[in-house]
Amino acid sequence: MKILVTGGAGFIGSNFIHYIISEHSDWEIINLDKLTYAGNLENLKNVEGNPRYRFVRGDITDGKLVGSLLQEGIDAIVNFAAESHVDRSILDVLPFIETNIKGTQTLLEGAHQYKVGKFIQVSTDEVYGSTEKGKFIEESPLSPNSPYAASKAAADLLCHAYWKTYQLPLVITRCSNNLGPFQFPEKLIPLAITNALEDKSIPIYGDGLNIRDWISVLDHCRALDFVLQKGEPGEIYNIAANQEKTNLELIHELLDIMGKPQSLITFVTDRPGHDRRYALDITKITRELGWKPTYSFEQALTATVNWYVNHESWWRQIKSGDYAGYYDRMYSHR
Ligand code: NAD
Ligand code: DAU
Repeated sequence: MKILVTGGAGFIGSNFIHYIISEHSDWEIINLDKLTYAGNLENLKNVEGNPRYRFVRGDITDGKLVGSLLQEGIDAIVNFAAESHVDRSILDVLPFIETNIKGTQTLLEGAHQYKVGKFIQVSTDEVYGSTEKGKFIEESPLSPNSPYAASKAAADLLCHAYWKTYQLPLVITRCSNNLGPFQFPEKLIPLAITNALEDKSIPIYGDGLNIRDWISVLDHCRALDFVLQKGEPGEIYNIAANQEKTNLELIHELLDIMGKPQSLITFVTDRPGHDRRYALDITKITRELGWKPTYSFEQALTATVNWYVNHESWWRQIKSGDYAGYYDRMYSHR
């Protein structure tokens, strides 16, 4: 199988590339990534030079480039490429429209023209919006609240249209919050771990009682592999591990694992439009594809903490670069 992975230099995409290269000894990957602030080739050092892996720097909105890659004969596209951070989408919406909507449409159009056999759109639980009770199923209405979530929901609708109109064999996956190695330290868990390692405060938005449902990035990658091999065209699959935590519970646990004081927690102004709770029903993927999560939250959190402890130069390089300016801007905005 020859796969075009987009956004493979980011958090989940790079974990997926490592996973596929080690699990499938005859599969090949082309990684198309623009290398935005979130893309980092350091994440892929272990596969560099592998004859089954090739990196191409480029933008998924570039139809010509996408066409030239598909011309090589691609069996499947897995689209991770996105602007992925909710807080950034609140500050500047346009990059989210460009990449998440226009970029997805460019890939869909290329897949249609070059008759690609499978297209996986890596979407998110955030498209369903927030719920205080119960869990979202795949048929739940879309009700996104942040500009990021709205752009991902728009991409899901375009995928639906390409399936209904052109029978493009695509599958949409909607996963909950991931944790694991290589996550950019603007997201809650890597931000908290790296701040704690530096004995800096950990900003908690609002009352800290917002709930997220956490899954190991490795379980997400395994689920995507199941979907790639067994997913039915035109279907949507929720992916989660049913491990809900308030942000405060999570940070308390994290500081205990790290042996750092709870006094590092600092309450800050809430995120505008902050979704209270995400929760997914995963009956469909477990019954129909036979996938289930394998890592507990505690295992995944401990492994993630250890990874950041052992990869200090990776995150220090990021935190001392442009990111430092972004962080200041974000807080001065509030
Ligand atoms: P990330 O921000 O870490 O990585 C995104 C990658 O996409 C980067 O390598 C970046 O350089 C690349 N990229 C951005 N714009 C591009 C463009 N125009 N052309 C080519 N490449 C481009 O994101 P992530 O957390 O790894 O998320 C990957 C995907 O999974 C996203 O689509 C996101 O919506 C989805 N998702 C993420 C989570 C999560 O918890 N992180 C959960 C569910 C779904
Ligand atoms: O649910 C899946 C989504 O998870 C993905 O689609 C997104 O790409 C990914 O970024 C993530 O979105 P969240 O907004 O849930 O993740 P984030 O790490 O930004 O925030 C997690 C929770 O922690 C959320 O309730 C906001 C809160 N938070 C976040 C940051 C960065 C804080 O309290 N303080 C912080 O500094």
